[in-house]
Amino acid sequence: MKSKLVYVCSECGYKSPKWVGKCPSCSMWNTLEEEVSLPTQGNARRSVVESAESAQRFSELEIPTYMRFKTGQGELDRVLGGGLVSGSVVLISGEPGIGKSTLLMQISDSLGGTTVEGRNRRVLYVSGEESGGQLKMRADRLGVKGDNLFVLTETNIARVIEETNKTKPDILIVDSIQTMYDSNISSAPSSITQVRECALALISKAKSENISIILVGHINKDGNIAGPKVLEHMVDAVIYFEGERRQQYRIIRAIKNRYGSTNEIGVFEMTDHGLSEIPNPSEMLLAGRPKNVPGNCAVCTIEGTRPIIAEIQALVTPTVFPAPRRTSNGIDYNRLCLILAVLEKRLGLRFSQNDVYLNVIGGLNIDEPAADVAIALALISSLTNRTIPDDLIAIGELGLAGECRTVSELEYRVKEAARLGFTKVIVPAGNSVQSKTDGVSIISINGIYETLHYLMQGTDNK
Ligand code: TYD
Ligand code: MG
Repeated sequence: MKSKLVYVCSECGYKSPKWVGKCPSCSMWNTLEEEVSLPTQGNARRSVVESAESAQRFSELEIPTYMRFKTGQGELDRVLGGGLVSGSVVLISGEPGIGKSTLLMQISDSLGGTTVEGRNRRVLYVSGEESGGQLKMRADRLGVKGDNLFVLTETNIARVIEETNKTKPDILIVDSIQTMYDSNISSAPSSITQVRECALALISKAKSENISIILVGHINKDGNIAGPKVLEHMVDAVIYFEGERRQQYRIIRAIKNRYGSTNEIGVFEMTDHGLSEIPNPSEMLLAGRPKNVPGNCAVCTIEGTRPIIAEIQALVTPTVFPAPRRTSNGIDYNRLCLILAVLEKRLGLRFSQNDVYLNVIGGLNIDEPAADVAIALALISSLTNRTIPDDLIAIGELGLAGECRTVSELEYRVKEAARLGFTKVIVPAGNSVQSKTDGVSIISINGIYETLHYLMQGTDNK
């Protein structure tokens, strides 16, 4: 059978018979890569036919009970939906140096300590990037003994599969999928064809032998997982390290999860002994917050099932540019522009002559509209140079008319605020607070103009 040459877009998977500079489907430049369709794919197709199942009546289908087991890192388990599911494939991705290998080495030790059918689970760690010695050095630093951990430094996928057959692991970790190659395929390692074929080989292994597989995936310069989007479609869960490696805190989030919610986040701190969990992120995010400085406002967002309090900082300065600058870190840029437009139009505040810098402390990304009022307050506070009381927290979504809209799970947020010592909570008037929380005074507002009024009165923190 003749092999056929096609070009595939690494961003969207679009196929073209000839090379073009710009992908006609997703308009990205220079993303088309050569791909060779191999005769072996014919075999793959045949094997599907052999194992074809007949259609089942929907009402007769049974709900499977997934066997989950703990990874030993509670924050990772939370993001996975309660633990690792046997036979599932998880892709972990993030910037270089963010801590992927560190986290995996830490969990491989504790996974080896879990039991199944009266014996300990076996973990096979395949490293295509580091030597055995380097892995050992890291493991020593992390205090990993690894009695049930087997290490293989290999990049040839056929050898990995062979070793998997020999070692018979319950969990297979591949660090990273981009370094693996199939010698039957002529394209270079980390090309789309190689990544996809290697991932396919591993996934079929996982599904047929009930091995849980964790793949490390590199990201490209735009922050997306390198390789075609199909890699994300092929796996059961995609976990992403957010934030920056220069920061001490690491936040993980599932962007896809077939076995759990994608709203949960996990928070870690990078220490000398690896990643350590932070079960109460609000305290960490609020630690060392500056007091009595204009431009700061606390906010409570719900991440999955957990309320998290963070601080928003705004800096508004007169511009020297023809078009004022707006930068935003942790908040969607368009959301910032929208809030600025509302404040400009409804309150007559002159942001158009100022540069605006917005930041969420601790590397957290907030995409919940419930943070709008806090963002608006931080902006007004910096513009007018009036401080917001340190014990005040603002919750609410802003509409285009400047109205304050209701948010979900308000009581939950108020309780978390009270736990961390906040005594004044700005809430949307439309939300009714049923139970009273001791020591917290609730300030109900209908629109953003009322917060302005409140800020002008309460500037001296008295
Ligand atoms: P690593 O886990 O190798 O990152 P990745 O696999 O995502 O590329 O390394 C993470 C960084 O963390 C590295 O720059 C060194 C640092 N680090 C610590 O601070 N403490 C530790 O105990 C370890 C193992 C690494
Ligand atoms: Mg690594």
